[in-house]
Amino acid sequence: MNRINRNRKMRSTESIRNLLKETTLSIGDLIYPIFVTETTDDYKSIKSMPGIEQVPLGKLKEEITKIKKLGIQAVILFGVTNKKDELGSEAYSNQGIIQKAIRLIKSFDTDIIVIADTCLCEYTNHGHCGKINEKGELLNDESVELSTKVALSQALAGADIIAPSSCLDGIVHSIRSCLDKNGFEYLPVMSYAVKFASSFYGPFRDAADSTPEIGNRKSYQIPYTNKREAVRELESDIHESVDMVIVKPALNYMDILSEVRQETRLPVVAYNVSGEYAMVKAASQNGWINEKKIVMEILIGLKRAGADLIITYHAKEVAKWLNE
Ligand code: PBG
Repeated sequence: MNRINRNRKMRSTESIRNLLKETTLSIGDLIYPIFVTETTDDYKSIKSMPGIEQVPLGKLKEEITKIKKLGIQAVILFGVTNKKDELGSEAYSNQGIIQKAIRLIKSFDTDIIVIADTCLCEYTNHGHCGKINEKGELLNDESVELSTKVALSQALAGADIIAPSSCLDGIVHSIRSCLDKNGFEYLPVMSYAVKFASSFYGPFRDAADSTPEIGNRKSYQIPYTNKREAVRELESDIHESVDMVIVKPALNYMDILSEVRQETRLPVVAYNVSGEYAMVKAASQNGWINEKKIVMEILIGLKRAGADLIITYHAKEVAKWLNE
């Protein structure tokens, strides 16, 4: 029998399209990044990320209240400081900006999940994610040791999830053992297991003031040409007992997201990074695209590709749209 398939019957009306929707996005899928600063007392806008501001400690209460009211359940914190040194000691100081911010948020009457980005690049004067030698090369084991101190100090401050972002060898293992030894056996580690060396981080480095003074991050982040290598990084972190994995950036890496989804049953998080945000903002400010529709299409695309959760600077706006 020769007949045609009338597939359009499955999408002929709005209601049937709604009924047959395969992928959905809800506010609970979103994680909002906050840049907490100790360099100013007021909100400070970030030129390359319109709509995003650095938040001083004094405004955190207001900020968290707003976020929670929108229904967003989790934030990831980045620190902005001008107290920088060779070994990034503010990153693991009890009085560091992130430790203060975590303690402060935990003192509010809120159940918001606080994820601590565990890295040194915002705190070192050279901008690399740990200790470097005279040639500017990042030393692995020494940097893992420093990052582990960062993780422990964030755990002691009250973080709900530890998120090591420097892609060093053995970092998940080191942090896990340290947390276990110090009574934090139940504190989850969400690693940036699959993190590419990417130009899409440009605006973030402005926002967090973390551009390397010399060199780049190509010896620790994955080359964007390599998919099998990305899967090996994932396998290593799983082997080291990671609890959740981040794929970063997101938009140009949906094939990777989908591959990671196939490879693991752990929760997968897509990081819709600063450059992806900035491009959408720029085009929408020019009136060239419909921001709301584009953002929904991007985020649903990430979920369809395999993301359970999405870290996105659009989170507040999306929450508003979803609440409408
Ligand atoms: C490292 C870190 C970076 C981002 C998140 N954590 C920057 C980098 O690796 O250079 C980038 C996030 C973004 O671009 O939105 N602490």
